[in-house]
Amino acid sequence: MQHIPEYIAQHKQRFIDELIALLRLPSVSADPAFAKEVLGAAQAVGAALEDAGCDTVEIHKTDGHPIVYGEKLMGKDLPTVLVYGHYDVQPPDPLDLWNSPPFEPIVQKTELHPEGAIFARGACDDKGQMYMHVKALELMVRTGQLPCNVKFMIEGEEEVGSSNLATFVAQNREKLTNDIILISDTGMIANDIPSITTGLRGLSYVEVAVTGPNRDLHSGLYGGAVANPINVLAKMIASLHDENNHITIPGFYDKVAELSERERAEMAKAPFDLEAYKKALDIDAVYGEKGFTTNERNSIRPTLDVNGIWGGYTGEGAKTVIASKAYAKISMRLVPHQDWEEITQLFKNHFESIAPAGVKVSVKPHHGGQGYVTPMDTIGYRAASKAYETSFGKKPVPQRSGGSIPIVSLFEEELGSKTILMGFGLDSDAIHSPNEHFGVWNYLKGIETIPYFYQYFTEMNQA
Ligand code: BES
Ligand code: MN
Ligand code: MN
Repeated sequence: MQHIPEYIAQHKQRFIDELIALLRLPSVSADPAFAKEVLGAAQAVGAALEDAGCDTVEIHKTDGHPIVYGEKLMGKDLPTVLVYGHYDVQPPDPLDLWNSPPFEPIVQKTELHPEGAIFARGACDDKGQMYMHVKALELMVRTGQLPCNVKFMIEGEEEVGSSNLATFVAQNREKLTNDIILISDTGMIANDIPSITTGLRGLSYVEVAVTGPNRDLHSGLYGGAVANPINVLAKMIASLHDENNHITIPGFYDKVAELSERERAEMAKAPFDLEAYKKALDIDAVYGEKGFTTNERNSIRPTLDVNGIWGGYTGEGAKTVIASKAYAKISMRLVPHQDWEEITQLFKNHFESIAPAGVKVSVKPHHGGQGYVTPMDTIGYRAASKAYETSFGKKPVPQRSGGSIPIVSLFEEELGSKTILMGFGLDSDAIHSPNEHFGVWNYLKGIETIPYFYQYFTEMNQA
């Protein structure tokens, strides 16, 4: 394919400016106060798809935030790529830790991004990565090289669990038929070590509450004589891991797919610098399940983590009080073949069973989803690998990620298609954190790699 680097060089500044305009819209899906801004972002994505060459663009209302659908069909006998992404973003809090306002994007150089990075909430997750696909479509249409059919489905509720998208997919299977699903919402190892994400972890997210006495009590008058819900909750949580950091919930590991020694050896070949990892996080040691490496702990092994814990007095100074209630939010990252609903039930049964007399315990499931593994012996994977080789000059390394995109396994169930995860972000891009950013080089490299994928995928399908 010709003119791809040339087209990108020529339109580079406009590509950056357009992404910056999209990043100015605070499309925070979790907070109802931003509903209008979320809708505005959906409309902006719809307009961008039209401008890039889609023949049909629709904004589908849901019970929550809208889904943007666009398509450009080139021929009945040609393969169809379905692009999925999300235009919603995480809440920007804590605001005071941002060096520049989260919805006023700026470009700044960093050590890992010497050509500059765009700092804004959503820059990498996922507006920047989603918009690479819109610009890649523009490039292919305007240079007359779109080789196959393309459909876009960009949602506004990924960060809050995609429940309305699940309904939309189930109700629109015909419309969404495709040969491969393409997503850029993950990362890669480093700018000089391209990688393709071959797995995502599943998720079960729950909230627990421990209730003791019917009111907050004086900690001197009652302390020692009644169960303190915060003490009890801390003890219960601590008991969920044993001395080897294995999770103690009965049945939790029963369905975990164990990797063979050969697969683990293969995995261990992926470049990883433990000293640099520790240095970047300012920690003097890593921590985790005995018998597994850091890369295994955060990808092929399931985990249980408290995400938030609260109760009692947390204001200025001291208040002597035994709180009536204590709470925690807990996430469990799951691996193939753990079933998230089953794990949620196992957690609930176990957590309720370990509650001591004197407190009541409740477990409220939030959301979840299954993990996913991309097979590597497919046309889709081979086309992606060749696309990276063309744009990076190097074969990409397969890498299983620890993050979750629960809708991916549902795509396979409902639409029967596999997903290729072409992520261009770095772990250090601070997604979900203050000062989220996305390298300009990464953004442009994505726009360059995607058209090669379309080309090779179409050729390999026709061979
Ligand atoms: N894009 C991320 C997931 C991700 C990031 C996967 C990097 C792999 C590498 C996605 O937007 C996300 O944040 N997912 C949530 C789950 C969702 C149900 C809220 C997650 O992983 O916590
Ligand atoms: Mn995302
Ligand atoms: Mn996210």
